Amino acid sequence: MASVALLRIDNLNVCFGATEAVRGLSLEIAEGESLGLVGESGSGKSVTALAILGLLGEAACVAGRIEFDGRDLLALGPDALRRLRGRDIAMIFQEPMTALNPVMPVGEQVAEAVRAHQHGLGRRAVRERVLEAMTAVALPDPAVRCGDYPHQFSGGQRQRILIAMAIVNQPRLLIADEPTTALDVTVQAQILELLAGLRERFGLAMLFISHDLAVVSQVADRVAVMRHGLLLEEAPRRTLFGHPLHPYTRSLLGAVPTMQTRLGEPLATLRAGARQSQAAVPLREAAPGHWARIPAESPYSVRTSSKRDVE
Ligand SMILES: Nc1ncnc2c1ncn2[C@@H]1O[C@H](COP(=O)(O)OP(=O)(O)O)[C@@H](O)[C@H]1O
Ligand SMILES: [Mg+2]
Repeated sequence: MASVALLRIDNLNVCFGATEAVRGLSLEIAEGESLGLVGESGSGKSVTALAILGLLGEAACVAGRIEFDGRDLLALGPDALRRLRGRDIAMIFQEPMTALNPVMPVGEQVAEAVRAHQHGLGRRAVRERVLEAMTAVALPDPAVRCGDYPHQFSGGQRQRILIAMAIVNQPRLLIADEPTTALDVTVQAQILELLAGLRERFGLAMLFISHDLAVVSQVADRVAVMRHGLLLEEAPRRTLFGHPLHPYTRSLLGAVPTMQTRLGEPLATLRAGARQSQAAVPLREAAPGHWARIPAESPYSVRTSSKRDVE
């Protein structure tokens, strides 16, 4: 775990009425680091992203702490949050068409993102920023295409436009929620490559959310696995892929656990479906930086810490 966290989520709980969408979640992202958040649909990934951005709405009850660069986001007012969003923390979502205004030229939309956060920039300077961002995301012929409308671009190009809008103010953290899920495999690979390149170039930290572990593995330094609102396992990417501890992580990796696997744990945990039984198993640090919700008698639980225990 890096020493200075850019984003620190501490014991986050989000519920909608009786639905506990996120339960006792703690995560950290260091400056410039990419954290992959993976889990099946409904596991609380998007709710986590929206909580960071202060976009959950009135229906949600939120408890815990979310710190960005030392500031408590849950304590910020709407104006301060709006200033932070798009400038320090930017986001891209799954469906580029719905996020773009269909009746406004794309260059104008990127320009609006600039003007929203950088007041007093002249027209020329704004246009320069727009073209720079469109070039950075490898949109063809930006000076000409900036006058085109969203429907004149392919799905992959539209996602590039949204990424240009996200990076144009040089944010420190980019939250990408299933950004390639609506794209076909080839285009998906190109977008992932683009994001990796932008990260390196701008020193961007990233929270990359996907239901697909294979996709996450291409962009994440560390991977966190969620299910039913609970963090089940978290580790550096290589560790998670090389030594997955939680049965659910293993199932995501396509491994079928059997009685003979080296896990040496009771079948009860392998039937990981029960929400309550999982919450009752505390997170343990099995190796430095490798946290998993596994029973104490597991041979991997060489170290324990109460830092991330929910109860
Ligand atoms: N606005 C909302 N109102 C009620 N329930 C919600 C709302 N948003 C999300 N949920 C519920 O919270 C849980 C987590 O959802 P979500 O974070 O969207 O999952 P995912 O991991 O697929 O992104 C789900 O059970 C979902 O139905
Ligand atoms: Mg989601």
